[in-house]
Parts: sequence; structure tokens; C-alpha cells
Amino acid sequence: MTSETSFWSPALRGLTPYTPGEQPVIEGLVKLNTNENPYPPSPRVVATIAAAAQEGLQLYPDPQAAGLRQAIADFHGIAANQVFAGNGSDEVLAHAFFAFFRQGKPVLMPDISYSFYKVYCGLYGIDAGIVPLDAAMRIDVAQYRAPCGGVVIANPNAPTGTGLPLADIEQLLQQQSQCVVLVDEAYVDFGGESAIGLVARYPNLLVVQTLSKSRSLAGLRVGFAAGQRHLIEALETVRDSFNSYPLDRLALAGAVAAYEDHAWFETTRTAVIASRENLARDLRALGFDVLPSEANFLMVHHPGHDAAVLAAGLRDRRVLVRHFRLPRIEQYLRISVGTPAQCAALVDACRALVSTEPAQ
Ligand SMILES: Cc1ncc(COP(=O)(O)O)c(C=O)c1O
Repeated sequence: MTSETSFWSPALRGLTPYTPGEQPVIEGLVKLNTNENPYPPSPRVVATIAAAAQEGLQLYPDPQAAGLRQAIADFHGIAANQVFAGNGSDEVLAHAFFAFFRQGKPVLMPDISYSFYKVYCGLYGIDAGIVPLDAAMRIDVAQYRAPCGGVVIANPNAPTGTGLPLADIEQLLQQQSQCVVLVDEAYVDFGGESAIGLVARYPNLLVVQTLSKSRSLAGLRVGFAAGQRHLIEALETVRDSFNSYPLDRLALAGAVAAYEDHAWFETTRTAVIASRENLARDLRALGFDVLPSEANFLMVHHPGHDAAVLAAGLRDRRVLVRHFRLPRIEQYLRISVGTPAQCAALVDACRALVSTEPAQ
């Protein structure tokens, strides 16, 4: 008798994979569960991808992603050879875990953070050294002093949304100067401070960003890392041992166009930031506690209502938010910031739920 997993590599059997947020196709749904941008990408991006589809698809894409790396480097004031581009920042993060964190020592990370970090630890046999957020659900860098094989944090953190000042990032880099400190800035364009400007001074700093959030390109799968040359070379070695063409021709063309339309980037991220502030105000008025957010989402809880019940009630009203059944945050909802109309629909649904449902 063969069991269902008898053909699997032994290493696979104990793995707990990441669970992505739902992508349902339900008409009229207000989808605020996966931190996508509520606005479409720049029309120039769409036109550029359409044009790119007309020629050259029979050829492999540029394995070095030279044009995109130059566009990213120009935007951030670094050299193109200090940039590594990958198929979404998830892939860049995975390569970084493989390249830097298999040191036989735990990798320090917050207890509440992007859940993929623990998944990569499982995949690559890395111990996760869990450091609790403080009582205000903030990262306290003074707690990251233990000997370790690396540090990974998201700044702003996810799913809390709360950011750290650059002075704290520098403290972390100095405290852990013997290992790589990976700062995942997936949401930094919505109000955080990027550490990319520190790359020249810290040989142990790797900053990872994505085009999925502030550039509205979650569907295109483009992310990148910025770091000194020796770190980028390590990532290139992992890539070329796995898949030399992680970015296809359409993604490369579209991503470059996204950097060329600066006005679109500014207009849409400013709109998201304004909506976030309005949404936080409206939810507080309904009795929600709202964590400070520098991201395109809010982490909220209502002292009188169970979060799972609220999430289910919102779903019944065709509003999707994210609820994690995890210690410390099971009474929270993570709500992505939508357009003003989407936010209004969410607030209306919340108002109905908190005024009609019995307190738990
Ligand atoms: C903190 C954080 N890092 C990285 C990612 C992955 O982004 P992508 O793979 O779309 O670039 C996400 C996605 O939600 C995230 O929340």
C-alpha cells in the first residue's frame, strides 16, 4: 500500500505552507483582505505590457533584468549592481533565507510578522528565534541582541502596520553587525522610512521591496532586494541555481514603465494614505482600537465584539477582511485600505454589526 505522501521527499512531510488570502470571484465584493492596491497600475504600464506582448515572446527574457535594475537603482540613488530583481518579493525573500540564514543558528524575527518567514525557515531547516512584539505591538530592537544567524523584520511590520524609525534600524544593524539584517519594506511607500539609503554604510543590510503594493502590480510578480555587491552576488548565485529567468518579458517591461510614471505612483499612494487616515478615524468612532499604521492596511480590534464573528458578518455583507487565528492577534482584523467607496462600504457594514450584534 502506498500512502498519499509516500512519493514525497521526506523533507516535505513536516512542512506547513503559507496560506494566501482568499481570491474569490464574487460579484460586487469589497475585497480588503490581501493588501492589494485599490487603484489599477499606471495606464503606461498596461500599454507597455501590451506592446511588449507584440514582439520577442519567442525569446528568453534578459536574465540580468538590466533595464529594471537600472530603473530601480536610479529611483533609489544606488548602483544597478546593488539591486537584485525577482518574481515577487516572496521569491527574493526565499532566496535571501537560503543565501544568508542557513548558519546553524536561529534567525531572529518578531512573533507577529509576515507569516512566510516561518515557512521559509521550515523549508530550509532554519530555526526561527521568536522575539515578542512589546505590549503596544511594536518591534523593540533592544530585544534583538542574542547571538543569531540573521535577523528579519518587516518595516512597517505586517500585519500590524506599525513602522520603525531609521535610527532603530541602524541600532539593529550595529547590534548584529556579524550577520545579515533583512528589512522587508513591502509597505514602506505608504509612510515608512526606507533603509535603502543605508546600504552604502552597512555591509550586512539587505532591503527587500515589492511592486505589488504601492505600484499596484501584485498580478505582475516583481520584487527586488537592495544591498552591497557581496549580498547581491549571493542572491544571483541562488537564482542561477534555481531559475535564471524569474521575470518574464512582460513583467520586466511593465515594471520599468511603473518607475517611469512617477506622477501615478505619487497620486495613488497619496490617495491610499488619505483613505487610511479617514478609515482609522471612522473605525475609532465606531469603538474600534486601531494600531498606528504606516502601511496600506489597518490592524483593528473591537473591545465588545469577537473578531471572528465580525469577519464572518462582514463576509455576509460582501466585505472581505483578513482574520488570523493566531495567538495575540486572534481578536484583530486586518483591513486593507480601499478606495473611498470601498472604505465607506466597510464602515457601513461595521456600523451595522457593532450596533446590532451582542457583545461577546
Ligand atoms: C510583509 C510582506 N512581505 C512580502 C510580501 C510579498 O509580496 P510580493 O511577493 O507580492 O512581492 C507581502 C505580501 O503581502 C508582505 O505582506
